[in-house]
Amino acid sequence: METLLIQGGARLTGRVVVSGAKNAALPVIASTLLTGESVELSGVPELDDIFTMCELLENAGVNVDQGPGCLSLNAGKANAVEASYDLVRRMRASFLIAGPMLARFGFTRMPMPGGCAIGSRPIDLHLKAFTAMGAELSVESGYIEAVAPGGLQGAHIYFDYPSVGATENAMMAATLAKGNTVLENAAREPEIVDLANLLTKMGAKVVGAGTGVIRIQGVERLCGADHTVIPDRIEAGTYMTASAITNGDVIVENIVPEHLTAVIAKLRELGAGVEVGESEIRVYSETRPKAVDIKTMPYPGFPTDLQAQFMALLCLADDMSIITETVFENRFMHVDELTRMGAKIKIDGRAAIVEGIDNLSGAPVNATDLRAGAALIIAGLAASGETEVVNTKHIDRGYDHIENKLRSLGAEIIRRTVAKKPGASAATAS
Ligand code: UD1
Repeated sequence: METLLIQGGARLTGRVVVSGAKNAALPVIASTLLTGESVELSGVPELDDIFTMCELLENAGVNVDQGPGCLSLNAGKANAVEASYDLVRRMRASFLIAGPMLARFGFTRMPMPGGCAIGSRPIDLHLKAFTAMGAELSVESGYIEAVAPGGLQGAHIYFDYPSVGATENAMMAATLAKGNTVLENAAREPEIVDLANLLTKMGAKVVGAGTGVIRIQGVERLCGADHTVIPDRIEAGTYMTASAITNGDVIVENIVPEHLTAVIAKLRELGAGVEVGESEIRVYSETRPKAVDIKTMPYPGFPTDLQAQFMALLCLADDMSIITETVFENRFMHVDELTRMGAKIKIDGRAAIVEGIDNLSGAPVNATDLRAGAALIIAGLAASGETEVVNTKHIDRGYDHIENKLRSLGAEIIRRTVAKKPGASAATAS
């Protein structure tokens, strides 16, 4: 088992380079199933979720060559095979291969994703889109099977909620459907635009990505392409928060500042200095954060994936903040862990009431999910004494070498490999 050990109190300074976006890379990799030709990707982060997606594709017969930060994928010999339960259970985004498989092979069989730490996360909107495009669905023994022997048909689809994954799955499926598809109340996240850009390079006809209405004109086949994945706005926001909580002065490089508008606004509102360049942002702070209220929303609103990190920061604010989570039903798992570090937080339905305190104190804490883990690291950076974050596997799903990047900014953080036997542990800096 690995843990991250943090000695709090160091002020972060310097420059940090953000990796390619996990949430853009995952659908982009899935979309390579749509063509028999090679797709060359760069800006691919080195993360466990990316390795899981590659494994899923390899199981379906895709040839995957991985290099540092890049991937070469060829689905020329791919087949519609049943996705492994073990892989889908490991990563819910595995369901993103369903749309391209159905579009290219007229068949997909996927384990129904179960609940997860941050809520029940149904897939009804994905399935609604597939059905509207003419697929026949059946559920048996925990698996969902979708069949469209004569191919998918273009359709007019209204999403009751602008789901990111359902928009991506429907968009990929529609590229090879017969006729036109209109997706209404579609998600507008930058990752949707990135996927649309790659699909367009592959010969798809997609307009409107980044707005609430996406129109796709189906084509007979797609071709190979080269693509660079957009920078990770959530990783960027995590380092920006880390700078603010340590009263640091950090320049976060390789970002698209427009993707972080809500985050920049909130950092300024809580009193941090934010200087925005073309592809970098400087975040500095000399004082305690002011209390602010935050409500998570679909893009361009404040991202749910930064809610936990901002909560860590607001634990040290000068007054009471209210954080409302509207995207996921149960995304406050980090509250109990922050409380163990001395934070004063009460949950009231979908709101967390955070009463700012003078100091957090280091403690052993559990990373219950990816972003909760990031929040605990951020809290640990500012806490007095030592914080040990266990369950780092969640953090490694989404952060590319987080301890190395933080250490380069002056943080005292090491990764420890802890032997299973209690008491027999060895520290290994990585
Ligand atoms: C994606 C991101 C995740 C982020 C989330 C919201 C990836 C790989 N993951 O997840 O990091 O937190 O967007 O920005 O890109 N819902 C339904 N029915 C559905 C689908 C979703 O009710 O069929 C609900 C979910 O339960 C949730 C909300 O819609 O409450 C948002 O989910 P969605 O936008 O689909 O998130 P993901 O694509 O799973």
